[in-house]
Amino acid sequence: MKKSEFKRRRHKLLEEIHDGVAIINTHRHHHRNRDTQFPFRPDSDFYYLTGFAEPEAVAVLIPGREEGEFVLFSRPKDPLRETWDGRRAGQLGACEDFGADQAFDISELNEQMPELLKNRQRVYYSIGKESEFDNRVMSWVNELRGQARAGVNTPNEFITLDHLLHEHRLFKSAAEIEAMRTAGTISAAAHVRAMQACKPGMMEYQLEAEMQHEFITRGARSPAYNFIIGGGANSCILHYSENDQKLRNGDLVLIDAGAEYDYYAGDITRTFPVNGRFSDDQRTLYNLVLDSQTAAIAEVAPGKDWNQPHAAAQTVIINGLLELGILQGTLEEQLESGDFKRFFMHRTGHWLGMDVHDVGDYKIDNQWRLLEPGMVTTVEPGIYIAAGSEGVDEKWWDIGIRIEDDAVVTRDGCEILTGDVPKTIEEIEALMQG
Ligand code: GLY
Ligand code: MN
Ligand code: MN
Repeated sequence: MKKSEFKRRRHKLLEEIHDGVAIINTHRHHHRNRDTQFPFRPDSDFYYLTGFAEPEAVAVLIPGREEGEFVLFSRPKDPLRETWDGRRAGQLGACEDFGADQAFDISELNEQMPELLKNRQRVYYSIGKESEFDNRVMSWVNELRGQARAGVNTPNEFITLDHLLHEHRLFKSAAEIEAMRTAGTISAAAHVRAMQACKPGMMEYQLEAEMQHEFITRGARSPAYNFIIGGGANSCILHYSENDQKLRNGDLVLIDAGAEYDYYAGDITRTFPVNGRFSDDQRTLYNLVLDSQTAAIAEVAPGKDWNQPHAAAQTVIINGLLELGILQGTLEEQLESGDFKRFFMHRTGHWLGMDVHDVGDYKIDNQWRLLEPGMVTTVEPGIYIAAGSEGVDEKWWDIGIRIEDDAVVTRDGCEILTGDVPKTIEEIEALMQG
């Protein structure tokens, strides 16, 4: 992402907060065990505005401030620590490489912040996300209150930044869509590789290894979320994560996996037969899910509301399951009772962006919001029939199927970002047997 992209984002936020101040902090390192840490990944809001990927940093945006509107606190240069733990931008780098107007050592945060909040009306930050940060903001404001008799105005409104900023993040720029296209392409290549590698007797994690290889080789150093690779009965566990069972001849395997590329997520699910050939019953349910996904994708267009793709998928799935005798009654009765949720228990999509379940409201004034160009959503209907499902013929048991693609709303419909991985039965079988 170019520097100008981050600058444009800050500018947009600066324009909206007028006489307020926005404070955005990032994560610390997370311990894995003893003195080992998880790979560091910056907070999405913070990175969105700064492009700064170090831990222990705080950005402050102050519209119209003479000494500069963008202040960045971060770790100082430290040759010894950098020899052990890696490079730091330091304060010079913060200004020269990340566009900060003014930069301070993070250890000066408590000293500088009251100054930066002086005579401002409102403070925008992510209220309630971390109680320790809430307390720090309050301590800065309280310090200013002590200077009231000296004529200092203290901010008297606290507004959560999330709503404002997440509305920005919901609409993706051309550069963001380009990054998401790449995330989609890499994710798709990894799914293709898993289909090609899959054989009865392999372990679920061996497919994970194939996919990781494809991700990392193509520059996506981390998945956007934990791999879900479930064979047979495990395909019916929505967020299955053990991935440690043997893949059996005759079973389906469901893979939900997506790459993170340049801090943007791909999110793809494919379901395919471990041995490369669908049984008749698997075929029947698979085509039902595929039809429901096709119907849902047709509803991803400007002017449609958020719920329309979901409603379309639900209708196709309920009608199909009624026809197969897996559900009883009528479409209306099923919608009324919600009985079908035994087999289709999640929604058909979610916003996608820097976070896999991305930010942005789904309703406005209690109404489903309308889709607009630049929004990115997943489309992921599924049917899951766990063993023991009451009133369901055993031949359907342990079949879990989800098909998931990522779609960006365009001016006249949508563009699928994840189209490079097969999803019809013919295409999947041809690829697996090729
Ligand atoms: N991978 C999580 C989801 O599809 O929502
Ligand atoms: Mn997914
Ligand atoms: Mn998803």
